[in-house]
Amino acid sequence: MSRIEIKNLTKKFDSKNILKDLNLNIEQGEMVALLGPSGCGKTTTLKIISGLLDADQGDIKFDGKSVIDLPTEKRGAVLVFQEYLLFPHLNAAENIAFGLKMQGVDKSIRKNRVEELLELVNLPGYQSRYPYELSGGQQQRIALARALAVHPKVLLLDEPISNLDANLREEMRDLIRKIHEEKQMTTIFVTHDREEALLVADKIAVMKDGNLEQVGIPEELYRNPVNRYVADFFGQANYIKISQINKDVFPADKMREYKHKKNKILMLRPEFIHLSKEKLEYNKNILVLKGEIEKRSYAGERIYYQVKVNAVNSSLRVIDFKLSSYDQGSTVYLELPLNKAAYLEN
Ligand SMILES: Nc1ncnc2c1ncn2[C@@H]1O[C@H](COP(=O)(O)OP(=O)(O)OP(=O)(O)O)[C@@H](O)[C@H]1O
Ligand SMILES: [Mg+2]
Repeated sequence: MSRIEIKNLTKKFDSKNILKDLNLNIEQGEMVALLGPSGCGKTTTLKIISGLLDADQGDIKFDGKSVIDLPTEKRGAVLVFQEYLLFPHLNAAENIAFGLKMQGVDKSIRKNRVEELLELVNLPGYQSRYPYELSGGQQQRIALARALAVHPKVLLLDEPISNLDANLREEMRDLIRKIHEEKQMTTIFVTHDREEALLVADKIAVMKDGNLEQVGIPEELYRNPVNRYVADFFGQANYIKISQINKDVFPADKMREYKHKKNKILMLRPEFIHLSKEKLEYNKNILVLKGEIEKRSYAGERIYYQVKVNAVNSSLRVIDFKLSSYDQGSTVYLELPLNKAAYLEN
């Protein structure tokens, strides 16, 4: 259950910079999702934290003490790989107890610990099954139990869910969260699935090309991304250049405020925009714009609209959960709640 500090971590492969001065702090007992596209350096980061790979520069501290020169087995960080890597000639119980056996833990204690862990990962009674007798999801859970067996200070999960099909993913995701809440282990969870990160993590670190773009709680990243890269990662967004907004649409007091933001881009998620037939009375927190429905797409519990708005010289996306029925070509008023907007650098 360690606090982790990663300082200026740098790694090159074949003279190519893979990690570039990466900094990240993780509180004790926190679960952080490391989110980023393929090849951005996620696995490399976990390998360096666990000690399986050396960094070129930088430091890693667990509870304030540098572990960068310690070998893997002395660090207390366990890495669970995406491909689970169970020992094929050992059954589930032997796989789970492997680390404990290495540590010289007593047989009866090992047996109890295996039983307890199989309960924890919802596979009670699976002691004597061999990996080839287990489904992918079950193997993944055994791999998780094996990692937990040695009471790691830090748990590192490299895309533990991505090999599983949709139903199993949800189950495994809930299990990981449940175990985390029970054990309060400091955990780094690698994923390239934004929804997984939003649902599972206490905090999310968004990675790009060997560096972190933004670290924060899920809602903060969704609502207040620092740039378009992060905003796009978390779903659809409208981007409106402040300089392109027709000045007539602003009430006088807003006008002054927006003068300072004239080089920025206003970002607003489509579900925050409200459509209405009537023009709303003046309200200083809502920007009201006139538009014309270009496209309406029915998607079951929600409707996607594309609305042409002359005052911003573009089309805006709107997601409507109230299932209104505005026809193509009809005139509507869009209400943009400015307290839900983020202002990005141009
Ligand atoms: N041992 C190695 N030798 C040379 N290059 C490597 C080595 N390991 C990784 N790389 C390169 O480093 C970069 C980052 O790899 P890494 O495995 O950390 O990515 P990742 O973010 O985990 O991607 P994915 O989501 O696909 O798993 C990639 O360009 C990869 O090709
Ligand atoms: Mg990887």
